[in-house]
Amino acid sequence: MRGALTLVFLVSPVLSWAAPPPQITFYKHIAPIVYQNCAPCHRPGESAPFSLLSYDDTKRHAPQIARVTASRFMPPWLPEPGHGDFAEERRLTDAQIQLIQNWVKLGAPAGTPVRGQAPPKFPSEWQAGTPDLVLHVAKPYQLAAEGGEIFWNFIIPVPITATRWVRAIEVRPGNPRVFHHANVVLDRSGAARRQEAVPGAGFAGMDLTIEEETFDPDGQFLSWKPGSEPAQAQEGMAWRADPGMNLVLNVHLRPSGKPESISPEIGVYFTDKPQTKFPMLVQLEHDGMIDIPAGEKDFLVTDEFRCSMDLNVLAVYPHAHYLGKLMEGYATLPDGTRKWLIRIPEWDLNWQGVYRLKTPLLLPAGTVVSMRYHYDNSAENARNPNNPPKEVKGGNQATDEMGHLWLQVLPTEGGDQRAKLQESLVRQRLEKYPDDFGANFTMGDLMLTNGDAAAAATYFGKASGADPRSALAATEWGIALFSGGRLAEAEERFKRALAIDPSYTDARFDLASVEAASREWEPAATDFRRVLQERPADSRASQHLGEVLVFWGDALLKSGKGEQALARYRDALQFRPGDAQVHGKAGAALAQAGRLDDAQVELEMALRIDPKSEPARQTLDVLKAMKGQK
Ligand code: HEC
Repeated sequence: MRGALTLVFLVSPVLSWAAPPPQITFYKHIAPIVYQNCAPCHRPGESAPFSLLSYDDTKRHAPQIARVTASRFMPPWLPEPGHGDFAEERRLTDAQIQLIQNWVKLGAPAGTPVRGQAPPKFPSEWQAGTPDLVLHVAKPYQLAAEGGEIFWNFIIPVPITATRWVRAIEVRPGNPRVFHHANVVLDRSGAARRQEAVPGAGFAGMDLTIEEETFDPDGQFLSWKPGSEPAQAQEGMAWRADPGMNLVLNVHLRPSGKPESISPEIGVYFTDKPQTKFPMLVQLEHDGMIDIPAGEKDFLVTDEFRCSMDLNVLAVYPHAHYLGKLMEGYATLPDGTRKWLIRIPEWDLNWQGVYRLKTPLLLPAGTVVSMRYHYDNSAENARNPNNPPKEVKGGNQATDEMGHLWLQVLPTEGGDQRAKLQESLVRQRLEKYPDDFGANFTMGDLMLTNGDAAAAATYFGKASGADPRSALAATEWGIALFSGGRLAEAEERFKRALAIDPSYTDARFDLASVEAASREWEPAATDFRRVLQERPADSRASQHLGEVLVFWGDALLKSGKGEQALARYRDALQFRPGDAQVHGKAGAALAQAGRLDDAQVELEMALRIDPKSEPARQTLDVLKAMKGQK
């Protein structure tokens, strides 16, 4: 009994002297959390369904806020803490979550406004200031009221006449309530355009591959997600915009219950400072092995690569579709230590995004980077789009699955190391997946750039075998064969590319060129003419057509077909007006056809244009002699 009494005496004074439980108030405790972590999305014109910019706003949703913060549904933040240190991290601490719980239990009191505290101000227009150029979509996308999520690609030309350096772009969704995520992909080759059924209409598809004819990789993640600030390129990392290039805006849309018209804009910010640092986007993936049986709870997809040089990781972008669950990316350094790049315990496509590291992570040469993605194709996965579950394969539609881990890396060695890095990565891929389309194609490109046409032809041949429907691979194969002097085979490849895609003007140009090199004048002329129909301003095509017509005329002249030769020379003069040599040749053709007077007129014209033309002078002399003999 005594002991208990003592205890009471010991305890009670403390209790009676304690201050009343601290009053948790909105202004003092909750506003700083909400303004920083919620307001970027919960404000007018942004993605969230209501604003959290005042006491009244917050109080109105208090119980809901307590619920969604406790479950960590809000703020949306996928990475597990301690596994990668990211800028723009938006994650509440346990203490903050507890504070919100207690505040709501207390009835969500306001307290007194704190001096100097105000709801955050957000620019209502462009966040990064007035853009140098604003790009609009040609045709808004009409999103139906109901139905599944939509993945749409807008193709947006960049109207510039000279090469410019871009330091930032800002995407304005126009309609953020239905706009979930967007990626911008650069297309310098027109590959995206060729995927449109109607020019300007855009096309569907979740993940986009742009086939480039030359190795010129993009080093930037150009993406938009709700509440994020526009990505600015770091000092020295501006990227190149070329005349004629397109930006492809790949957007993820969710129907809102009413029909919506979607017409996003892109603001472009230029700089005078050209690129001096060359980051590269490196991808881990093994989509080829994705074939997930219905009901499979834990299907694992892995990939890895070894760093051939010291690299700094600047940002990571993990990506899967609806079945992705636990997603891990990490690096094993040469000394065996593991550095986490990212770990996402509960993947949710709706909140995907690019994660920039607070400070670059150095991966010394010899480091192995690994990706391990787990997929859940069982009925227990609430996000499974198929009920009952169905077998799911790799592919770029929303009903297919994918697993990508992209890293933005910057080699520590100065200068442009991209081709070197790329070659080592692609060689590793080919060891693992000898028939991989992308790896063979890229290797072909690298070999062509190195001047090894024979090796390039072998790789492009394999790429073409892996994807016989790729007009680009067939064309590149042709180009490699052409530069190796294998004209007949090259011609076959270009014809194949055009059979796949008759509107592929570059392939038509290549075909015409190889026909010309093979002295097949008639088909060469026909194909150059078609190139000019498709691209009337193509001065190289008109120049080549002029040359081909002259050669063709020469061949006819040689075989005694003067009249026909004359017609070719006359055609050639359309492309080479006032060319003394062609007038001279026309004179010779007329002479051969027996039209001596006309021939004389033509030859005299050639000599008026170019009094020093020896062939014209000699032909005229012969002609006069012939006429004199008559
Ligand atoms: C990255 C943008 C973003 C941030 C940051 C964010 N929200 Fe949200 N919030 C949304 C979106 C978008 C929705 C609509 C959810 C949906 O449609 O799935 C939403 C929905 C909600 C809902 C309604 C949930 C429901 O069940 O309907 C609450 C409550 C909420 N947010 C509270 C918060 C709080 C509190 C914070 C900060 C601690 C926060 N949000 C931070 C974007 C955000």
